[in-house]
This record gives sequence, C-alpha cells and structure tokens, in this order.
Amino acid sequence: MTRFPTNQDLDPVQLRQAFGVFPSGVVAVAAEVDGHLLGLAASSFTSVSLDPPLVSFSVANTSKTWPDLRRARRLGVTVLADHHGGVARQLAGPVADRFTRLDVGVSGDGAVTLTDGLARFDTSIYREVEAGDHTIVLLELHAADHVDHSLPLVFHRSGFGRLDSA
Ligand SMILES: Cc1cc2nc3c(=O)[nH]c(=O)nc-3n(C[C@H](O)[C@H](O)[C@H](O)COP(=O)(O)O)c2cc1C
Repeated sequence: MTRFPTNQDLDPVQLRQAFGVFPSGVVAVAAEVDGHLLGLAASSFTSVSLDPPLVSFSVANTSKTWPDLRRARRLGVTVLADHHGGVARQLAGPVADRFTRLDVGVSGDGAVTLTDGLARFDTSIYREVEAGDHTIVLLELHAADHVDHSLPLVFHRSGFGRLDSA
C-alpha cells in the first residue's frame, strides 16, 4: 500500500467495500414480542466483556424491526453455522417470511434462538449507544451454550464463505 490520497471524500460505496474486506461471523438476533417472532441477521456482532458478560451488535437507524424487537424482555442471539447462508438472507428479507421453516426455540422470557446454531445467548439490553447512522447495542448475557463440532458462516465482501477446517 502507498500513501493515502489527500482530500479523500469517504464515498459510502467505497467505504462499504473497504469495510467488507474485514471478515465477520453472522448472528440472528430474535425474540417473541406480542406473540410474533421478530428478528434480523447481523454481521456486526462482537464479544465485548467477560465481567459483566457483554456482547454487542450495531443496528441501522433505518431498521423497521428494531423499534419492536428492542421491547422484548430477552433477546436471543444465535451464531450461524456454515450451512446457514440461506437462513441469513431469509432473516434479512421480507419480515413475514423471516422465520418460515426455521427450527427455533423460545425461552420463557421470549428469547428466540435457532436450534442448530453454533452458539446461543440469552441476553437483555445493557445499553444503546448512538453511533452515526447506527446504534451500538450492548447486550448483557444471562445464559450461553455452544457446540464445538461445526464451522461458522463467514460474511466477507458482501458474500458468504466458510473457514477451512484443515
Ligand atoms: C449477512 C447480513 C448481515 C447483516 N448485518 C446487519 C447488521 O449488522 N446491522 C443491521 O442493522 N443490519 C444488518 N443486516 C440487515 C438486517 O438483517 C435487515 O435486513 C435490516 O435490518 C432490514 O430489516 P428491518 O427493517 O426489518 O430491520 C444484515 C444482513 C445480512 C444478510
């Protein structure tokens, strides 16, 4: 890499492409609210703190789902597995179809998780931080479980890939 160009306007399209070179996993954030399953796919998930146990994800301020989803007492977070590419797209698509044919579990407090995820977290909102056109949502964990035998779904350059297990 050479020197940064000067007076660079940070064009959103180029910026999105630059952000996209950073690989991430994908989670489903979901809950039952007023008897309806609500949720979305998010690649902005990250672990934050062990004590207290916190994770975060960022939600776009344009999200139509978040204003209702954030009302849930508990939010389920599921780390998606390598075979969940279609599920991730479904959880980002038309709201009415987001949970069609998905095998989910609902906790007593309404946290919704996918039964075949790599890790599942039972969470509640710890803090929401305004961050430009997104809101950083810090989630406190109440329970967690995971499996060790599968590979994660990887989101990279606007597409899905998988880790090489070798
Ligand atoms: C792989 C993938 C990752 C995504 N990551 C995020 C994210 O981190 N934050 C976000 O707000 N939306 C993300 N989305 C989009 C949401 O899943 C959803 O489509 C968006 O919130 C619009 O739906 P809504 O208006 O019902 O919220 C992602 C979509 C996909 C397919």
